[in-house]
Amino acid sequence: MDKFNLRPRDVNLYGEDICPNSYVFNYNLEQYDLVGFGSGVYGGRPHKSIDKFVFGLPRFRGRKAFVFSTSWRGKLSYNKYLKNKLTDKGFDVAGDFSCKGFNCFGPFKLIGGLNKGRPNKEDIEKAVDFARKLKSQATQ
Ligand SMILES: Cc1cc2nc3c(=O)[nH]c(=O)nc-3n(C[C@H](O)[C@H](O)[C@H](O)COP(=O)(O)O)c2cc1C
Repeated sequence: MDKFNLRPRDVNLYGEDICPNSYVFNYNLEQYDLVGFGSGVYGGRPHKSIDKFVFGLPRFRGRKAFVFSTSWRGKLSYNKYLKNKLTDKGFDVAGDFSCKGFNCFGPFKLIGGLNKGRPNKEDIEKAVDFARKLKSQATQ
């Protein structure tokens, strides 16, 4: 998923496939040992397109998943909803990550938005570090 707007250079660097939301239906997730699902948080939930995508998935066996999100509050607990949905689909949820994201929803627009510049360099470094650790655990 492209939640952190990683460039192709980053993708090649770490050898993973990153898939924007709009192409996700072209991917056969069976070919991956570890799949990350990322989204902004809207009303305490992931974006409805991710929810719909996960709802439409078949049941998986022996596949690991992780969840990541950005939100105004940056709370890890926002990931719980998607983690549960993935567990219901048979994924072994190996971890999750969250950080703050820029929010200019409604009245916040008037003050130039909240969390300007987030996710920032540090957030992205933490996210990449998190993904690397999971990947090395998954391939051990
Ligand atoms: C309609 C709407 C609802 C939101 N609800 C929440 C929320 O419940 N909790 C929160 O912390 N942030 C909330 N946010 C902030 C977003 O999660 C945050 O801006 C996120 O980084 C957006 O990701 P995106 O840039 O991929 O859309 C909301 C934003 C919008 C536009």
